[in-house]
Amino acid sequence: MSSTGSAKTGATGQLLRIGVVGAGVMGTNHARVLAGLPGVELVGIVDPLADHRARAAQMLGCPTFETLDEMLALGLDAVTIAAPTHLHREVALACIARKVHVLVEKPIASSVTEGHEIVAAARAAGVTLMVGHVERFNPAVAAIKQAIKDEEILSIAITRVGPFPPRMSNVGVVIDLAVHDIDLIRWFTESDIVDVQPQLASAVAEREDIALLQFRTASGVLAHINTNWLTPFKARSVTVATRGKYVQGDLLTRQVTECFGFQRDGSYSMRHLSVGHDEPLRAELLAFLDAVRGGTPAVTGEEGVASLEIAIKCLGAPTGSIAAPLRQAPRAVAG
Ligand SMILES: NC(=O)c1ccc[n+]([C@@H]2O[C@H](COP(=O)([O-])OP(=O)(O)OC[C@H]3O[C@@H](n4cnc5c(N)ncnc54)[C@H](O)[C@@H]3O)[C@@H](O)[C@H]2O)c1
Repeated sequence: MSSTGSAKTGATGQLLRIGVVGAGVMGTNHARVLAGLPGVELVGIVDPLADHRARAAQMLGCPTFETLDEMLALGLDAVTIAAPTHLHREVALACIARKVHVLVEKPIASSVTEGHEIVAAARAAGVTLMVGHVERFNPAVAAIKQAIKDEEILSIAITRVGPFPPRMSNVGVVIDLAVHDIDLIRWFTESDIVDVQPQLASAVAEREDIALLQFRTASGVLAHINTNWLTPFKARSVTVATRGKYVQGDLLTRQVTECFGFQRDGSYSMRHLSVGHDEPLRAELLAFLDAVRGGTPAVTGEEGVASLEIAIKCLGAPTGSIAAPLRQAPRAVAG
């Protein structure tokens, strides 16, 4: 079944024809997960690079295409876009023009203007647009969100550090990593970030590879992100202080604890929270399918643009682009 312009596609149970754009790290994962979901026909995966197509075909056994047009010509209900970020706008607009529903990887685009263009086009065409802020679907994050649901949040601290990625793209650590946490801060607080105090450094790479970012939300929450590519191991942690609780989560081990019942003598109670086992990407793609079938996108295009806008503010880039100023005398990338 292919879309012919209806606002929403496919009642529950109908097979959705879905394609993936980009056979790199994320695209291959999208295709792997989509291939195993009920109610989905994975039409194929597009990539201009022959070796990436060959790798995807071998790993997934699905059709591959050199161009997006070839795949769109087969009739699709939806695509997931995992091409490099600077191509998100071009690919998304081409799909939306064919009334194809779109999940676009984070960050939504290379600039706020491009992000707005994607949002406006999807709205005008009446197609679903969702942004792949996959961390929201991490069960540890979901447990934290649930634990702070009725609490007055005071502050949030997030650490997301690790070694340099194997392939350096043309963005720094703020656009690549901190944008996940900017989205989490906005989602946890259900409030906009109104004040940004960034400290950036480029210790090894050309673009920033260390960032300490402080924020204040419209609701008065203070938040802090510590991120870098200079830590020899991966660490991802979230702590949220509320008026009545202190919630700590490790997003890798998925252990979440909360301290509560604070007493005047300094004593308190502590408990481990129950955390699910879902693969975040699977949960994200199921949420996308639900949105395509008539539900509300779990991460809207507008939210994706808002998080990108804050990330760009952190870079101090004047023209709304994701390119931070290059350091004066770049040192060689150490690994
Ligand atoms: N949600 C997350 O946690 C997460 C993690 C990593 C990357 N990402 C995002 O996913 C996107 C892709 O990142 P990646 O790490 O997979 O990059 P990657 O370089 O591994 O893959 C990108 C792929 O796109 C292909 N490509 C290039 N031009 C194309 C075109 N015109 N049409 C189709 N494919 C094209 C490339 O050949 C490559 O195979 C980026 O936007 C990135 O920010 C998200």
